[in-house]
Amino acid sequence: MSFPYQIHSFEEYLSEYKKSIDQPENFWSGIAEHFTWKKKWDKVLEWNFKEPRVRWFQGAKMNITENCLDRHLADKGDHPAIIWESNDPKEKNRILSFKELHEEVCRFVQVLKNNSVKKGDRICIYMPMVPEAAIAVLACARMGAIHSVVFGGYSAQSIADRINDAQCSLVITADGGHRGSKDILLKDTIDEALQNTGHVKKVIVLKRLGNEISMKEGRDIWWHDEIKKVDAQGIKDRTAESMDAEDILFILYTSGSTGKPKGVVHTNAGYMIFTTYSFVNVFQYQPGQVYFCTADIGWITGHSYTVYGPLCAGATTVMFEGIPSWPDAGRFWDIVDKYKVNILYTAPTAIRSLMGYGLEPLKNKDLSSLKVLGTVGEPINEEAWHWYDEHVGKHKCPIVDTWWQTETAGIMISNLAGISQGKPAFATLPLPGVRPVLVDENGHAVPGSDAAKDGVFHKGATGATVTGNLCIRFPWPSIIRTTYGDHERCRLNYFATYPDMYFTGDGAFRDAEGNYRITGRVDDVLNVSGHRIGTAEVENAINMHPDVVESAVVGYPHDIKGQGIYAFVILGSESKENNLDKSSVAATVTKIIGSIAKPDKIQFVTGLPKTRSGKIMRRILRKIAEGEMDKLGDISTLTDPAVVEEIKMGKI
Ligand code: PRX
Repeated sequence: MSFPYQIHSFEEYLSEYKKSIDQPENFWSGIAEHFTWKKKWDKVLEWNFKEPRVRWFQGAKMNITENCLDRHLADKGDHPAIIWESNDPKEKNRILSFKELHEEVCRFVQVLKNNSVKKGDRICIYMPMVPEAAIAVLACARMGAIHSVVFGGYSAQSIADRINDAQCSLVITADGGHRGSKDILLKDTIDEALQNTGHVKKVIVLKRLGNEISMKEGRDIWWHDEIKKVDAQGIKDRTAESMDAEDILFILYTSGSTGKPKGVVHTNAGYMIFTTYSFVNVFQYQPGQVYFCTADIGWITGHSYTVYGPLCAGATTVMFEGIPSWPDAGRFWDIVDKYKVNILYTAPTAIRSLMGYGLEPLKNKDLSSLKVLGTVGEPINEEAWHWYDEHVGKHKCPIVDTWWQTETAGIMISNLAGISQGKPAFATLPLPGVRPVLVDENGHAVPGSDAAKDGVFHKGATGATVTGNLCIRFPWPSIIRTTYGDHERCRLNYFATYPDMYFTGDGAFRDAEGNYRITGRVDDVLNVSGHRIGTAEVENAINMHPDVVESAVVGYPHDIKGQGIYAFVILGSESKENNLDKSSVAATVTKIIGSIAKPDKIQFVTGLPKTRSGKIMRRILRKIAEGEMDKLGDISTLTDPAVVEEIKMGKI
C-alpha cells in the first residue's frame, strides 16, 4: 500500500498546509477517501468551540479494525504486523502477521461476546506490554466496546477511580508482567481495586508470570480457557461491528490541574484519519519498514503510535515489554539491531537516562537500519538532542520532535522527517489541518503567532520571537470530544479560558521563521519522565497520610526525568519531623496514585507561604525548589513572610 496523502517535499507541505486552512473539509475528506468505510459520511465537519461540539464525518459507518487489519489481508496478510520482544532477551520473541493478528482479534471478540459484553460497554484493560494487550484493545474496537486502558504502574485506588468513573463492567488483566528485574503483580492490584467498585462482573486474566494468584469464583476467568471455548465453538462471526463515525472508541484518563483525572474521550473516524495521516507524514513511513515506538499501551502514545496509527498504515510495529536499561543499557540498540528497525520513537527521558551510561552500550550494535528518529512527551534539551543525533542517528537520521497531547490524540506540531527542517529543542511547524496561535494573558492573539493567518513559514527570517499560551483555533479530526460523564469539565478545562479556542495548557514561543518551541505547562501540571501528573493530585494523596495537615507540590528541574516532584509538607502537632519517616509520606503517594507520582524530595515545613486570602503562593515554592532563592520577588503580601526564610533554610 502506498499513501496517496504522503507529502514528498517541503513545497508540497506548504501547499497542503494552505489547502487544509483554505478548504479544511475538502482537505480531510480527500484523505478520508483512502480509508475503508462501510458507508461514507453525509457531512465532513460540524463544530463550535462554545459547547464544545465537534463532529467529523457524520453519518459515516466504519470500523477502525477493518482499517488496521482486514484491509491488509489481501496484499500483506503474511507480513508481520506486531513483532513482540520480551522483557527477557532470552525469551523467544513473537511475531504476528496481519492474518494472525486478525484471527486473534476475531477470536477475542467472541470471548468478549461470550461474556455478555455489548457494544458501548466500558472495558478496563490493565495489562503488561504483551501482544494480548493490543489484541484486547483491537477486539474492543472491533465489537464496539469502549476501552479504558490503565497504565500498569497505577495503584489499586487509581484503577478503582477509573473503573467507577467509566462504570466498566469487565476488566482484562494478567497475573502479572515483567518490568526489568521486577515482576509487577497486576492481578493482586486488580483484586484490591475491585474491593472498591461495584460495576465489574467479570475479570479475564492472561497467564503471563505463572505466579500464584487468587481467582474469584464466578468473576475471574482465564484468558486461555476462554480461548479454548471459542476454539471448540469455532469463530462464529468475523464481521466488524458497524460503528458511527462519532461513536466513542476509547476513554483514556489523564491528569489535569484539579485533583481528579479526566477521562478523555476519542471517537472512531476522526481518530483513525488523524493518527494514520500523522504517522505516515511525520515519520515518512515507507511500506515494508519496521517501526519501533517504545511507549507503553497505557499512554496515548501507545494507543496512537504503537497500535492504531501504524497498523492502519499497514506498518510492522515493534512492541517491547521491558525497559531500556535492563538487563543492560544496550536493550534498545539490541532491538534495533535484531529487527533492523527503521524508525525509532522514544521519550527524551529515556535518551537522557541512556546518555548516563556512556557509549559502551552502543558498541558493536548495528544501527545502520535506522532512517528516522522521533521524540515525544516533553521538551528535549539540546544536549540530549545532539547525543541522539550523533550516537544513534549517526548524523544521517532526521529527528522529529513531536508535540501533542492525550487530548489531541495525534501529533500536532512537528517537523516531517526529511521534508521539513528539524531544529534542536523546537517542535517546529504545525501539521496540515492544525492552526496554532499564541495568546497573551488577556486572551489576545499575539501578532505574528498564528500559523494560518501570519504565514506558516518565513524562510530565513530572523528577528524577534513571540511568546504566549499555545492555543489551537480550529478543530482537527482527533480533537477531544468530551471528558467522560462530565462535558462541562471538558468545556471549562479546554474551551473556556480563551473564547473560540482550544487551550493546550502549554506555553510556547515562535521564532521569526515560524517554528514553535514548547516551553512547558503553564498550569499546575508536571511532566515527570514524560508522564503528566497534576500537583493537586499528588497533594490530595499526601494529605491522606494521617499525620499530614497540608502540603504543596511543585516541580523542579531534574537531569533525567525532566521535572522532579518536590513536596512541602506540614505535619500535625503530634508528629515531629524526627519521628515521621519521609518514606512513609512517599509510600502513601505510591499507594494512592502509583510509584510514578512518588515525590523525589519531601521537605517538612511548619507553614506555607500564603496570601491573606489563604492562597498558596506556588511561585515562591517553585523558585525555592529550583534553587533560585534570590528570585522570589515580592513576598510582602504574605500573611507570614518569615515562613519563607524557614523554608529556604530547610531546602533539600
Ligand atoms: O506539556 C506538553 C508535553 O506533554 C504534554 C502532554 O502530555 P500527555 O497528554 O501525557 O501526552 C504525552 C504524549 C503526547 C503536553 O501538554 N509534551 C508532549 N510532547 C512534547 C511536549 N513538550 C515539549 N515538546 C514535545 N515534543
